[in-house]
Amino acid sequence: MARESESGLPIEPVYGPQDLTGWDPVERLGEPGGYPFTRGVYPSMYTGRPWTMRQYAGFGTAAESNARYRQLIAHGTTGLSVAFDLPTQMGYDSDAPIAHGEVGKVGVAVDSVDDMRVLFGGIPLDEVSTSMTINAPAALLLLMYQLVGEEQGVPAARLTGTVQNDVLKEYIARGTYIFPPKPSLRLTADIFRYCRAEIPRWNTISISGYHMAEAGASPAQEIAFTLADGIEYVRTAVAAGMDVDDFAPRLSFFFVARTTILEEVAKFRAARRIWARVMKEEFGARNPRSLMLRFHTQTAGVQLTAQQPEVNLVRVAVQGLAAVLGGTQSLHTNSFDEAIALPTDKSARLALRTQQVLAHETDVTATVDPFAGSYAVERMTDEVEAAAVGLMRRVEDLGGAVAAIEQGFQKNEIEQNAYRIAQETDSGERVVVGVNRFRLDAEEPYEPLRVDPAIEARQADRLARLRAERDRPAVDTALDALRKAAEGEGNVLYPMKEALRARATVGEVCDALREVWGTYVPSDAF
Ligand code: 3HC
Repeated sequence: MARESESGLPIEPVYGPQDLTGWDPVERLGEPGGYPFTRGVYPSMYTGRPWTMRQYAGFGTAAESNARYRQLIAHGTTGLSVAFDLPTQMGYDSDAPIAHGEVGKVGVAVDSVDDMRVLFGGIPLDEVSTSMTINAPAALLLLMYQLVGEEQGVPAARLTGTVQNDVLKEYIARGTYIFPPKPSLRLTADIFRYCRAEIPRWNTISISGYHMAEAGASPAQEIAFTLADGIEYVRTAVAAGMDVDDFAPRLSFFFVARTTILEEVAKFRAARRIWARVMKEEFGARNPRSLMLRFHTQTAGVQLTAQQPEVNLVRVAVQGLAAVLGGTQSLHTNSFDEAIALPTDKSARLALRTQQVLAHETDVTATVDPFAGSYAVERMTDEVEAAAVGLMRRVEDLGGAVAAIEQGFQKNEIEQNAYRIAQETDSGERVVVGVNRFRLDAEEPYEPLRVDPAIEARQADRLARLRAERDRPAVDTALDALRKAAEGEGNVLYPMKEALRARATVGEVCDALREVWGTYVPSDAF
């Protein structure tokens, strides 16, 4: 009796040669680092360089987060990843009424270039690559990063990193959007053009499936809706006059890794093959780097349990293994206590050590794409690919990702799958160790890390001082220039950079754009 996979596909008890009848390894796989990149984006993969150990971190003020980044670097992390608090993500200042209670809570508070300078104090920006999980105000944080790099004497051409800059998935699953889709996509294209000209090694977007997976998307839905978003971004940039090979090499992706290792490996391999074919056949990309789906992975937060939290160490190790066997370029392993509170220094260190065990105590870095040719994984790769392509076709039939979002299609599909998962968990059909099976009579006490509530007041004081010290007329002039650019067709990042250099705040810059572009109001499509 075949078991069902997370995507609702059969997993046969035994696979054999009959499952790969007519299967052509050249057409289906290619060489590692060669089209259609099924086996990985680089010829040598981890035998050449291990994935980047990139732990998502940030809380409180810039000073607290700076201390955590320096700690992670000391423990051996090989890439930075900034978590911003909600006010920053939504384009509000820490002293805005709407920000009350959220300042420094789910990430670091950044109100101005002054905070950015503290955030990276003592960290040479030409020696690290930094990911910033920021979407609607991605341009602001990128420009402040560039300004701090300038102050450190690091030319923009030497900066490496990524801004998430994926607002479409915010409309579908995460919610930190500001502007309506049209100006949001314009801003995305402006970032592509600006980085092409000014910061050529910067990855301009991290097209994300992680949050859709955390909202309940199956592996097939995760890659289908993410790649459909990717197609929308490519169409937008091409429509804005860019040549596909001018920006596609700097697109990147972000997926989840679940404990279901076999299907997750199949998912990553299928995603690379679909994207390579779309970029070659639909967009005529010629540069091989335009065809490569490079991605970051975060282990599935939604699978962490508050019950018996130490068991999460095992889940994260299994999820991390799935990501590595699937060929990820960069990896965040969750801390075992994240279902309860922000990671402590010790749990954050354990999460990083999990990656170091995978990289240095196993043999998964000794050979490329070890599942190649496996009856089971190749069959599952083909089946996940077929399911994802079918969903992408449905999105296309609705008019593409934005049109489908406005009809609530992706959100509806994901919520139906989330409901199925919840029903299976409630019935016990889906085992969650420690939660609906193998439970303890009494949970052991656990002392979580708490964020100091005085942070909000301290951040408000910093803002008051900044507003008192800066050259207000210069800020007003710069903000007026930004409004004019937003009303016209020019690239808004150039006047935006001058406003931020004059110490305009995140809230002031986003308010200037809100005045011109308005804000997004979700449709009540279903
Ligand atoms: N052979 C040859 N070259 C190799 C190689 C190999 N085997 N391995 C790596 N390299 C080269 C690469 O070509 C690259 O050089 P380049 O920049 O000149 O192209 C360099 O070495 C670095 O390698 P990668 O680019 O593969 O690795 P990075 O780590 O630098 O980049 C990425 C990975 C996926 C492309 C990038 O976009 C990235 O870092 N993304 C991270 C996104 C992230 O961290 N997101 C966190 C989100 S948290 C969130 O949203 C969840 C929250 O809401 C809950």
